[in-house]
Amino acid sequence: MKSLWLFVAVTSGFLAAACSAGGASGSTDSGGGSGGSSSSGSGGGSGGTPEEAGTGACTVPSTPAALNAWLQTGAYKAYPHESAPHVSAGPHPGMVQAYLSPSLDASLQAGDADNPQCSAAIKEYSGSASGWAVWVKLQPASNGGHNIYWYEIFTTAAGASPDSSGEGDSECTGCHSMGHDFLNTPFPLQ
Ligand code: HEC
Repeated sequence: MKSLWLFVAVTSGFLAAACSAGGASGSTDSGGGSGGSSSSGSGGGSGGTPEEAGTGACTVPSTPAALNAWLQTGAYKAYPHESAPHVSAGPHPGMVQAYLSPSLDASLQAGDADNPQCSAAIKEYSGSASGWAVWVKLQPASNGGHNIYWYEIFTTAAGASPDSSGEGDSECTGCHSMGHDFLNTPFPLQ
């Protein structure tokens, strides 16, 4: 696992920089701008996990700008999802509807203790709220939520800045630690 992560780290340096601090000093919000302008967007790692695409190592991006652009495409709407929006059992506003990446859905079906690297959950807000909350597993083990990228935004305006964004965001991990692998949505999906 370690060697796989090192491989990923080499192919996506910004992620490695964001994660290596284990959350303590991981200011990931701006993606660490200055350095090498490695072409974000397409390309990405070859030969890694099958879900690799887009910015970073996973289909669902884990930097705020790239993730927002991906959310805007609505690609997640093809994922397995809850049948209808419902009121949140937690603090999430408006009506919520969860979408699970295929790899997350499969691992929950299998009852795996740990969901795989790059699995992701997207929660769409509607009704009196708009925007999304997102969960992306960055490594095979959650490590107390530190290896999960947490994102929440209360607008669907393209390119807007999120209210929350970061690995192991303590605003999110406390409550989510009550769930299975930091997921709170009841499964099987309702
Ligand atoms: C006080 C509890 C609480 C806090 C804090 C919280 N959540 Fe949640 N979250 C929930 C509950 C409960 C659900 C299950 C769906 C629902 O009822 O909203 C959920 C669902 C989700 C989901 C759908 C996937 C899943 O876990 O089932 C995402 C994504 C999510 N939350 C992201 C976040 C982010 C990002 C933060 C921090 C900014 C956060 N949450 C903070 C309680 C919480």
